[in-house]
Formats: sequence, structure tokens, C-alpha cells
Amino acid sequence: MTDAYAVFGNPIGHSKSPFIHAAFARACGQDMAYAAIEAPLGGFGSALAAFRAEGGRGANVTAPFKLDAFAAADVLSERARAAGAVNALKFEDGRTLGENFDGLGLLRDIEVNLGFAVAGRRVLLLGAGGAARGAAPAILERRPALLTVANRDEAKAAALVEAFAALGPLDACGYEALARRPAYDLVLNSTSASWRGEAPPAPPSCFARGALAVELVYGRGLTPFLAEAKTAGAGQLADGVGMLVEQAAEAFAWWRGVRPETRAVIAELTVPLV
Ligand code: ATR
Repeated sequence: MTDAYAVFGNPIGHSKSPFIHAAFARACGQDMAYAAIEAPLGGFGSALAAFRAEGGRGANVTAPFKLDAFAAADVLSERARAAGAVNALKFEDGRTLGENFDGLGLLRDIEVNLGFAVAGRRVLLLGAGGAARGAAPAILERRPALLTVANRDEAKAAALVEAFAALGPLDACGYEALARRPAYDLVLNSTSASWRGEAPPAPPSCFARGALAVELVYGRGLTPFLAEAKTAGAGQLADGVGMLVEQAAEAFAWWRGVRPETRAVIAELTVPLV
């Protein structure tokens, strides 16, 4: 029997997840269907319950429902708990299990696909919203020399640092203070600025020569952040397409017990950074 999965979001029309999971299922010989479901705002719980009642086996969850999914899960993984959000669900033995693979997907892309080892490096995370909360614990797990979280609203960055202080060396600051700090080897843009064609106000001096600059947004080509990073001397640029495909691969492996190859799917979805 074909097993049913879906991604929930609002809006969901732009989602690449059905394409990615269909490619994984074909490559791994898995008999599964994967739909995109646009749940109404405020209606995630009932849409999820209906999907489950119809025999759904698991789901991905994207904006704006990651906190609703966190609330809907009976059992949370340590990663989901740390991020305070859930992006993958599995229905098993009458329970709803909640996971968060965003941070893991990001780190897999950085370390395996982009070949950048985080251990011992200076890492700068721009933004302190939901995306940053997913990324920070995964970065700290790789033992950087320092993780600095910079945000316009400095209190939000400080709160994030306080939440993760036990996981490794990290500190918080505003954008202006970045100009007085040594440069960073890895700079990640987790802000939502790129969706509006803007860049966070990070000074050029925050990019070490040859640094890796990663935009968590995907499919937008050379965003203002990546363009500024390039001008400032970053040696390697990447957007969030690898993270997207790698987090999908983690969810797929969690559901199906087999981890798909990601390289061909990433290549297919990559929009050139020009
Ligand atoms: P997400 O879940 O995508 O992280 P969010 O929780 O709304 O979304 O957080 C958005 C983040 O982008 C915040 O860190 C926000 O900064 P503030 O907390 O100071 O508002 C950041 N952000 C959005 N637009 C930005 C801009 N133009 N420049 C800098 N930071 C921006």
C-alpha cells in the first residue's frame, strides 16, 4: 500500500518538498505519496488530525506552523526541544513524534557538501528569530571557537544566547558592535531580510578573507547579503538549497529507514548565485 506523507504550510504553493521527496522515493524504491497541504491559519491542528485519520504516516511542517507542530507532538526529540519548533512529524504506535532537522540539514550542507569544518572556527549568525534558533544548537554541537549572534533587536539575540549558553561558547551583539570585532570564518544570514530584497546591516569587516557566507533563504540567486559578502572578500557563497534538501533527506531517513543521495536533487534545484 502507498504510504501518505505531506508538507503543511500557508502558503505552500512554492514548496519544493513534494519534488524532493518524490525524487527520493523514486531513487530509494519507496512506495509513498507526498502532497502539499495548505492548512488555514489557525487551523493546523485540525488539518493535521484529518490527514492522520486518513492514514497519513508523517509530515513536514513549514511556516507558519512550526510552533503549532511543536504543540501537536506527543513526543519531542532533543533537537526539537532545543529549537523550540518542529519541522517533521511521524505517526507511530498511536503517538505523534516531533523532530527538527533544520539545523542538522544546515550543518550537513556546510560540512559535507561545502567542505567547511566548523570546529575551531569563528562563526557569525545574523538574526535571532525562528531560523536562528534551529541553527544555533547545531552549530554549537560542531564545537566552533565562538558563535556570535547579531540582531537588530539585541535583547532577542541575548535571549537566544542565554537559552543555548550551556551548549558552547557564544555571545550576542548588535550590528554596530560587529565593526569592532575580529572577522568571522563563517557568516550565516538567518534573517528574513532577503525575502524583501534587503540585507542585514553587517559591516564588510565581519567577513574574514576567504570566508564562507551562507544565506538560509534559497532560490533567489545572488541576494544582497551574498553580493555584499562577495564584495567584502568572502571566498565561498551558498544559499539554503542544500540545507533544504539535506533536512528533507533526514526526515526521509527517519520515516523510511533509508537515507537518500542528495547531490542530484540539490543540483536540480540550484539557482546560480549570480
Ligand atoms: P524566521 O522564523 O524566518 O527566523 P522571525 O522569527 O520573524 O523569522 O525572525 C526574523 C529575523 O530577521 C529577526 O532576527 C529579525 O530581526 P529583529 O528581531 O531585530 O526584527 C531579522 N530581520 C528581518 N528583517 C531584517 C532586516 N532588514 N535587517 C536585519 N534583520 C532583519
